[in-house]
Amino acid sequence: MQSFRQNPTAPAFVQDPYPAYEAMRSLGPVLRWEDYDMPVAVGYAATSDILKNRALGREAPPEFAPQIPAHLAPFYAVEAHSMLELEAPRHTRLRGLVLRAFTSRRIAGMGAEIDALCHDLIDRFPAGEFDLLPHYAQKIPVIVIARLLGVPEEMAEDLLAWSNAMVGMYQAGRTRADEDRAVSATEAFVAFMRGYVDTRRAHPGDDLISELIAAEMDGDRLSEDELITTCILLLNAGHEATVHTMGNGVATLIGQHAVDALIADPVNTVEEILRFDPPLHMFTRWVYADVEIAGHRFRRGDQVAALLAAANRDPDRFDAPAMFRPDRAAGQNLSFGAGPHFCVGAPLARLELQIALPILFQRMPGLALAETPRYADVYHFHGLKSLMVRAG
Ligand code: HEM
Repeated sequence: MQSFRQNPTAPAFVQDPYPAYEAMRSLGPVLRWEDYDMPVAVGYAATSDILKNRALGREAPPEFAPQIPAHLAPFYAVEAHSMLELEAPRHTRLRGLVLRAFTSRRIAGMGAEIDALCHDLIDRFPAGEFDLLPHYAQKIPVIVIARLLGVPEEMAEDLLAWSNAMVGMYQAGRTRADEDRAVSATEAFVAFMRGYVDTRRAHPGDDLISELIAAEMDGDRLSEDELITTCILLLNAGHEATVHTMGNGVATLIGQHAVDALIADPVNTVEEILRFDPPLHMFTRWVYADVEIAGHRFRRGDQVAALLAAANRDPDRFDAPAMFRPDRAAGQNLSFGAGPHFCVGAPLARLELQIALPILFQRMPGLALAETPRYADVYHFHGLKSLMVRAG
């Protein structure tokens, strides 16, 4: 297996990781990323195999489970019930119960509300140059997921702050200060959710939390801890990635002069935005049983990574992958993952993007970038630091 060196926190890489992904792919579909000391898949077929193959999964085999330092215990106590970190049978059970409440009818029913929310936010845009992220891209996903779960919208700022601090645990080269921030945020989030779930248990409403409390499969329900973790997972996963896809998407649409394509065909254009510049690039898996991927053998206890954003630009799968082409056939990118952990929120994220992006450009036809946008200096989320725009 060939190896490659690339500091994941190097500013030039964080701003534009795609040339490095191309250089990696020229060495083979799977290679060792020295800085992570881990094999990574950069080809489409190998990435897809890693995500779908049942010989691999998110949960560490028990004999390889990392020791958790005492100061991180509150964070991992929540992760211990997260479907994203589990495999069958617990993963199947948790995911099944969530899907029971998170129905396509409930998601589709949000369309009119998302539409109205977008118009309302645009009505309140400041005059002159302003940052579109806090005024639009951050507001929509967090308000939508809060409403869907039945959490008061006034909590949006706290939810954003807790969630930002918690995902800091996934950043390359995290510090003790990042860890302490993540733990404090976890404790505050859990305390809030515990109280809130109790209120909903006593007074059920027409919201996802009440449905999750009631959701039952074969006589089985979510325990209190599972319920709290699931709500935190949905609230966190439910906005971070969508915010960044919306920001990256606006920058791409303006930069690539693709606004007309968006208005003509929002569905395919949103798929191309997801393929071209996704918010989440890297996911890891543990190996459970000896397995061969792209000609390389892996053993129980090995860890491998899937580089979704590199797979999305594999020329064996996409013609001229570095070009932004909204008329590509939809539905092939790996930005929502694949296999058992395929994103539960994909239909909601797609709906939000397909509604919010066209409304923005219809209401502000000459919307222009006021500054060259820069990505935030982190690798765990590929999203913009700010997106300064002005009306045309
Ligand atoms: C554009 C926006 C989004 C992107 C790019 C995205 C991406 C992903 C990816 C790549 C995974 C799989 C991770 C893995 O295989 O290890 C995933 C899982 C997940 N996502 Fe999303 N997501 C988005 C929006 C959402 C939303 C809106 C929600 C909730 C409302 C959500 C909830 C989840 C959950 C619960 C999982 C775990 C599924 C499981 O483990 O079975 N996501 N997402």
